[in-house]
Amino acid sequence: MDDLKAKYLTQIADAANEASLEDIRIAAVGKKGEVALKMRELGKMTPEERQVAGPALNALKDEINSAISAKKAALADAALDERLRSEWLDVTLPTRTQRRGTIHPISQVSEEVTAIFAEIGFSVAEGPRIDTDWYNFDALNIPGHHPARAEMDTFYMHRAEGDNRPPHVLRTHTSPVQIRSMEATGAPTRIICPGGVYRADYDQTHTPMFHQVEGLAIDKDISMANLKWVLEEFVKSYFEVDGVDLRFRASHFPFTEPSAEVDIRCSWEGGTLKVGEGDDWLEILGSGMVHPKVLEAGGIDPAEWQGFAFGMGIDRIAMLKYGVPDLRAFFDSDLRWLRHYGFAALDVPTLHGGLSR
Ligand code: DAH
Repeated sequence: MDDLKAKYLTQIADAANEASLEDIRIAAVGKKGEVALKMRELGKMTPEERQVAGPALNALKDEINSAISAKKAALADAALDERLRSEWLDVTLPTRTQRRGTIHPISQVSEEVTAIFAEIGFSVAEGPRIDTDWYNFDALNIPGHHPARAEMDTFYMHRAEGDNRPPHVLRTHTSPVQIRSMEATGAPTRIICPGGVYRADYDQTHTPMFHQVEGLAIDKDISMANLKWVLEEFVKSYFEVDGVDLRFRASHFPFTEPSAEVDIRCSWEGGTLKVGEGDDWLEILGSGMVHPKVLEAGGIDPAEWQGFAFGMGIDRIAMLKYGVPDLRAFFDSDLRWLRHYGFAALDVPTLHGGLSR
């Protein structure tokens, strides 16, 4: 019996899988197994012999059975460990580099601009792209006869005969949002408004739909010096460099007095556009101190409040930063261009995390 026990316990310990364990079980304690055969021999024994051999055989059977279940459990554990090891997968790995969609440079730049101005305390305001000619012109001190209306190459909405609603236009600039936000929040205020605008114009640096970001800051003691500081800070953060040459030029807008236009130093050499070098200047924005009539149109008392405003071309500063020499490419929907100039969807620009990485 000791030999039997030793033989089967060794076989069980060495069993490689459940199937061989089952073979061992059948050979040892199955109906026709070795232990069963021994049990049959009990009949031929004397009662005294049987009293010793019977319990010993039962004990042997139990021992073999429990060794088998213990081994079965150990094999299952090992199988699970092996599966966990081989099927392990690192969910922190980056996704495939084959990107399907990208963020358009205009969207990216709008986010970058918003992140920078948010840091200086400006919030985002919005207005409709189809607006009345009052918001787009009159309220901004551009009356009906003013040449600026013609200069702007405005798209007018069609009006059916007998329609006596006020004339609507595709907004020619984001400036009408100045009026809307003054009406909504009064003074003091600091807002920017990024968005699409429309003019009938088409060449290398003009498209009929383009993007601007309007800025407006109104308070009791705001001056041109504040305007200049904000714009310089913006340009430094946006281009992620310390030295970008800016040129403030005296100018004229009906809605500001005094007014200034700002150009940025650039080069077009070899068909590529580079910022901060060369002898060319690209106009990126108009600005000035908000005209008292504009404050009045927005319901703000010009005797008590003053402020600055600016309107910047988003597409222009996108061209400058990302070296896109032709504005029209932004709107061509050429997938190869979009893959090249687009941005990864999850790289949200922040000042601390990096704007464009
Ligand atoms: N609205 C002007 C344009 O589209 C840009 C502009 C100039 C906006 C001066 C302003 C400003 O807010 O103060 O050309």
